Amino acid sequence: MKCTLFLIVLMNMVQSLFAQFEPNYDESKVPLFEAPDPLISFKGEQISDSLAWEKKRRPELLRFFEQKVYGEVPETLDAFSFKLLEQSDEAYEGKARRKQIEISLRKNNSVLTFTLLLYLPKGKINAPVFLGYNFHGNHTVTADLQVHIPTAWNKNNEDLGIIGNQATETSRGKRKHRWAIEKLIENGFGLATIFYGEVDPDKNDFSDGLHSLFYEEGQQRPKPNEWGSIAAWAFGLSRAMDYLENDSDVSKVIAFGHSRLGKVALWAGATDQRFAGVISNNSGCGGAALSKRMYGETVGRINRSFPHWFSDSFEQYNEKENTLPVDQHQLLALIAPKPLYVASAVEDRWADPKGEFLAAHYASSVYELYGLDGLLHRQMPAVNEPIQKTVAYHIRHGQHDVTTYDWEQYITWGRTFLE
Ligand code: GCU
Repeated sequence: MKCTLFLIVLMNMVQSLFAQFEPNYDESKVPLFEAPDPLISFKGEQISDSLAWEKKRRPELLRFFEQKVYGEVPETLDAFSFKLLEQSDEAYEGKARRKQIEISLRKNNSVLTFTLLLYLPKGKINAPVFLGYNFHGNHTVTADLQVHIPTAWNKNNEDLGIIGNQATETSRGKRKHRWAIEKLIENGFGLATIFYGEVDPDKNDFSDGLHSLFYEEGQQRPKPNEWGSIAAWAFGLSRAMDYLENDSDVSKVIAFGHSRLGKVALWAGATDQRFAGVISNNSGCGGAALSKRMYGETVGRINRSFPHWFSDSFEQYNEKENTLPVDQHQLLALIAPKPLYVASAVEDRWADPKGEFLAAHYASSVYELYGLDGLLHRQMPAVNEPIQKTVAYHIRHGQHDVTTYDWEQYITWGRTFLE
């Protein structure tokens, strides 16, 4: 009898352990929760105008995300510099100008360099530019033979021709379907991109990349409240912005990113108000999706699979999303009043499209303080029917990816809100 009871208890424990590790895709199993109000401070004060938002609420939210989610940048750089490596007026059959700029960051006698690839529409005096990281090298976004191949650590991928953690000539143009460069150029926009591995290799190892520049003697990894890789990549986008804001061929810069790099674009937009707008393409957990819904990827899951992405202090919320005093809609609100576009894909359940939409909806109250239109209704729009306000949203058919459809929407929205 005792033995059967023990077995039942044990089986229940095993089951609940499995439930914890099985992603939830059932809307009826989403926990009941209240999204913390962006307009009520941690002390319970009502925030009723943009001044109170900027002076009181925004700083405390930013601080929370800095200390408990993405991690703080430890110090300032000692120096940074830019070098034009190459340029041409004859890219894309003479329709575009190309520049490749080396950005060097200096700290504690060490230097980290990365290369910004910039395409600009010819015949436009200064153009708005989308700035986003790519996953495997600048040469993967275009068939252009002049684009340099990075030598930084790259995740092996046979299809892309990445062997021994090095990109090769075979990788050239392999991801060009994700970057509608010709379409952007024809519509008067530029594109700036960087291989994210040059700023920080995407592996659970803090020995290299940007973090290592800031270590004190004998230090091997960031301190518990300090930056993970997402914050380091966001820092890199800001340094690219340092260059772009001084390039007279560029007017505005919109931070763009897909998936993990969408999380990066959002954090860059929250921490650096020079970005004229932000686009999150399928950014999911730790990006635009609400954590408290625990749908698809969860905080525990992301921290276990990618222990280097967030600050160590974020781990205290593994399977305890209900104890988080904030949620991701408040990250989105930190971007206000700058235009924000959140995009999802129907089959990308891992990223929780509904959670991404609701976060953009809940962030909208902050945009309203500035008299700007957000997503008024709690109801998701139909598939392929974008809502394009200062806060914009679409859900398209298909999988986790960046498609021409996505870029077409960003261009239309950009023309209205960013030109
Ligand atoms: C994984 C990860 C996601 C991330 C995605 C990507 O699926 O769990 O959080 O967004 O990779 O970057 O492709």
